[in-house]
Amino acid sequence: MNMLWRFHLLWILLSRADSFSVTVPSSPILVVRGATELLRCEFEPDYNISNLVITWQRQEDLRVVHSFYYEIDQLDRQSADYSGRTKLNHKELAEGNASLSIANIGLKDAGNYMCIVNNRKGTGKGVVQLVYTAFCSEPRLSILLKSTDVTVQYEMEGYPKPEVMWLGSEGQNLTDHLEVSSASDGGLYYLKSSYITQSPVFNVTFTLKNPPAHQEVQRHFNLSYDGNMSSSRSVVVLSVLCFFLLCSTGLLLWLYCRVRSIHTGLM
Ligand SMILES: *[C@@H]1O[C@H](CO)[C@@H](O)[C@H](O)[C@H]1NC(C)=O
Ligand SMILES: *[C@@H]1O[C@H](CO)[C@@H](O)[C@H](O)[C@H]1NC(C)=O
Ligand SMILES: *[C@@H]1O[C@H](CO)[C@@H](O)[C@H](O)[C@H]1NC(C)=O
Ligand SMILES: *[C@@H]1O[C@H](CO)[C@@H](O)[C@H](O)[C@H]1NC(C)=O
Ligand SMILES: *[C@@H]1O[C@H](CO)[C@@H](O)[C@H](O)[C@H]1NC(C)=O
Repeated sequence: MNMLWRFHLLWILLSRADSFSVTVPSSPILVVRGATELLRCEFEPDYNISNLVITWQRQEDLRVVHSFYYEIDQLDRQSADYSGRTKLNHKELAEGNASLSIANIGLKDAGNYMCIVNNRKGTGKGVVQLVYTAFCSEPRLSILLKSTDVTVQYEMEGYPKPEVMWLGSEGQNLTDHLEVSSASDGGLYYLKSSYITQSPVFNVTFTLKNPPAHQEVQRHFNLSYDGNMSSSRSVVVLSVLCFFLLCSTGLLLWLYCRVRSIHTGLM
């Protein structure tokens, strides 16, 4: 940057800071693993974009997510973490729209993004917060029969750590055994939860909740065995009743919340 340009920026900062507005969603945006997300940012438009400088930057460590000036994307300034994943719609810039799309969202993308805009009308910034989540995978069921007991087990992956519980027919907490491995680089927790019983008849409900994604899963079990538990040749009759409510209502609620947060944010 030459001195004149620097002076120009400083002058903009001093003289227009109060009147220039940059608008971003006020509530956090829930982003889903693997998705392409639009980070909305709007500013007072100027038809002539030759003086426009847009910088999307992480607030935590000032990594450059996307930079635009001299009417082009300045990709050599971009952090390698965002290389090839960001897109600014150049056609919208003259309309005052600096919204940035980020593809292939991962755990490390969670955090705060500053949208900093300079043009002839002024300079300003807004901060967009991304909250990362991953829909829990369909729980995988396995039933292990031994001569002494039965183990019903579910395995799944999600983020953040899903809340799982086993409930008895009267709603009592039967949560027995839970194994959790920490979130891997892929941004997922692996979870294994089992219920072990010696009873030949049992009625339990497995529940899974992933509140940020408004995801709830419920499985009802009504199992009974026929025969002698100690005999390895006992005939086992399993009547497994699985009603799953991988709530489409949950998904709708989630979509509704997202749409609402975007709208309220821009009003
Ligand atoms: C836009 O602004 C630049 C620099 O201020 C100027 O040189 C250019 O002529 C302007 N373009 C239009 C179309 O007004
Ligand atoms: C801003 O640009 C994005 C990306 O092209 C677009 O999806 C969005 O609708 C635009 N916002 C407005 C208010 O026009
Ligand atoms: C099993 O439990 C569910 C509720 O968890 C209840 O509605 C159902 O009647 C129970 N069935 C038996 C056989 O106890
Ligand atoms: C159910 O029991 C498990 C294991 O004892 C415990 O970790 C969990 O917090 C309990 N959940 C509730 C809702 O009481
Ligand atoms: C559960 O299984 C028992 C025994 O097989 C049966 O009597 C009962 O009706 C079943 N309950 C439900 C809710 O299906």
